[in-house]
Amino acid sequence: MKLPPDARFSTICIHAGQVPDPGTGAIITPIFQTSTYVQEELGKHKGFEYARTQNPTRSALEANIAAIENGAAAYAFASGMAAIDAITTLLEAGDHVVVTDNTYGGTFRLFDKVLRKYKLEFTYVDTSQPELIEQALRPSTKMVFVETPTNPVLRLTDIAATATITRRHGARLVVDNTFASPAVQRPIELGADIVTHSTTKYLNGHSDSVGGVVIVTRDEDVAWMKFIQNAAGAILSPFDSWLVLRGTKTLNVRMAQHNTNGMALAEFLATHPRVKQVIYPGLTSHPQHALAKRQMRGFGGMVCFDLGSYAAAVRCFDRVTIVQRAASLGGTETLCSLPVLTSQYGLNDEQLEAAGVTRGMVRLSVRLEHPDDLIADLDQAMS
Ligand SMILES: Cc1ncc(COP(=O)(O)O)c(C=O)c1O
Repeated sequence: MKLPPDARFSTICIHAGQVPDPGTGAIITPIFQTSTYVQEELGKHKGFEYARTQNPTRSALEANIAAIENGAAAYAFASGMAAIDAITTLLEAGDHVVVTDNTYGGTFRLFDKVLRKYKLEFTYVDTSQPELIEQALRPSTKMVFVETPTNPVLRLTDIAATATITRRHGARLVVDNTFASPAVQRPIELGADIVTHSTTKYLNGHSDSVGGVVIVTRDEDVAWMKFIQNAAGAILSPFDSWLVLRGTKTLNVRMAQHNTNGMALAEFLATHPRVKQVIYPGLTSHPQHALAKRQMRGFGGMVCFDLGSYAAAVRCFDRVTIVQRAASLGGTETLCSLPVLTSQYGLNDEQLEAAGVTRGMVRLSVRLEHPDDLIADLDQAMS
């Protein structure tokens, strides 16, 4: 659909990249579950030849997410990790990357255990302090890879300040925007070159699909991502593309409720006598609350709180009834997890301290139930 240039965010989410099916008028883009396309005669086709290379359901989703993140193009992959892996193919042996130090564990594993074998170098710094990014730059630094907010301690990186540093150095700024979602934060509008998401989370929003997406801005990255998506072939399936396309239609309203529920739970936890600390960018106690107000629209659904000991955290974890014990985030059901057993599993005390994580921490992915029911559930679990 051709949208007016001043179309608002929720209208873009619902319509961008989609037209009624020309064959039937179906308002919803069909699932083109096909591996190949018939040519009318030699070389004469409708722009689709083989489904790894082109699929209309995937193309609709990619156009939709490119518009949502205000990028030039988007490419959908089989998982968030496949998307991040595809981004790193922009690099060459000997290139150096500066990375947020408490980045998602799977990202660290890919960089540390796989890509170092191919002579890529990584330096992990606390990117919440722009001067540390600047200090870590080398002549060979080609990319700065940040995650904001981070998991689980919700540390923020100033995207606009980081973009200025990165551009001055001639490197690309990549932002993993999974934790915020584009309804809350749009990094390209703040100067990022590339944005990535695990669509498994807020973009799909229903806990029923695994996928990833890369949104690019530069012409050369548009060409390379299209090439690598076909060359390496880690594409998002037609059905998953359809699921995420369904998910983005409600992204704006879902995120508004995540923001409301996240704030309600953070405020409740902040006054609870058993809670030692609550980390939520929307609370004035968050050390980067001013930055959160500047670069985010709402503060999202991730809340982290400290019950003071591992035993207390396990007790709360085991006693919740509406809140479900599971990893992941961004669907409709509120989930809880213990960072020392998930994102920070296996770290010693010193490493935990560096990551700002304690053994008594519980991470909540606050979702769409009534906040009063969630509050009552946590209250009984902590009592
Ligand atoms: C911030 C972040 N980036 C990337 C990923 C990887 O996504 P996926 O699990 O879809 O491969 C995750 C997964 O939890 C994540 O939290």
